[in-house]
Amino acid sequence: MSRINLAALLVVGLLMVTAKQSTQMSLRNPTAEIETSNCKVAFLRLGLVLTSDNNEKALMDSGLFEPDSENPHVDIAGRRFHVGTLNKTPIMYVKSGTHSVNVATAVQTLLLKFPISGIIFFGSSGSLDEDMLVPGDVAVPKAVAFTGVWEWKKFRSENKGKLVFGDFNYPENGENLLGTAEHQKIDLFSSSEESKEVFWLPISSSWFEAATEELKDLKLKKCHSGTCLPGTPKVVFGSKASTSDFYVKNKAYGDFLLEKFNASTTDSASASVALTTLSNEKIFVVFQGVSNVAGGKSSNSGTKYIASYNAFLAATKFINSIPTPRLACE
Ligand SMILES: *[C@@H]1O[C@H](CO)[C@@H](O)[C@H](O)[C@H]1NC(C)=O
Repeated sequence: MSRINLAALLVVGLLMVTAKQSTQMSLRNPTAEIETSNCKVAFLRLGLVLTSDNNEKALMDSGLFEPDSENPHVDIAGRRFHVGTLNKTPIMYVKSGTHSVNVATAVQTLLLKFPISGIIFFGSSGSLDEDMLVPGDVAVPKAVAFTGVWEWKKFRSENKGKLVFGDFNYPENGENLLGTAEHQKIDLFSSSEESKEVFWLPISSSWFEAATEELKDLKLKKCHSGTCLPGTPKVVFGSKASTSDFYVKNKAYGDFLLEKFNASTTDSASASVALTTLSNEKIFVVFQGVSNVAGGKSSNSGTKYIASYNAFLAATKFINSIPTPRLACE
């Protein structure tokens, strides 16, 4: 074979490989491909995930979010993915709603469809430990777990779960037909490893450490339209967080979560953000505004808003401390 032929063959071969790669890439991430191919968006955005209308209101009221003038949003599966900047940092944000399916769907869509470098989540939670976290505070956990995944044992099963319903009989503990339940691990899938069963999902250590550094002097909001917190709100780093699809207002169960798992907060979103982001091998961090205490009196709307706003302040300060990752085409 002549030299020229060989060279031509090589070029054709290379073209075939490239064509195959770009088809795969566009299937995986169509928007990223379109945007990066002409270098219109030559950087990765941070993905901001929030759960509620109250969280979104905090973002809007701050005046720090500026929608993109050309493409302010994309709608997918009934969710709106907002494109813009938060205090000049390029972000995309989505309101996920609560509960595992809604949250996981929103996070997965965000990661699959857009060029996102990592996920910053903020939402509300209930405190399980009043000595550590009170309404208005912000928890920055170091690990989260799904604590609503149970194997519910047969009555009088020999192999007992840790949650023993008879221990909660009132006024005296005793036997209870509900028996016992054992909290279960959950499958963590990932693209580069075999799936494994896990209980605690660790927050990405680089971002957890960066948050600890950046937010140590953060001043939080104390009052909102006539409501003031009784004390000065604070950021608490390194707690453990429990997530389930049920809303825990029950003090006895809250005490169980604190005692058995050392979980200081409960919510219905954080572990979904963690599991979905870890599956995609991206980094993430969680900011929880404490809006009430499990078993305590209900907070008024002013306190709930302050909790939301404080979690937003933490997320924003963190986001603005992260350098924007550039793509190679710039
Ligand atoms: C429980 O959590 C607190 C704070 O989140 C921590 O200081 C303490 O060391 C933990 N205890 C155990 C036994 O892990």
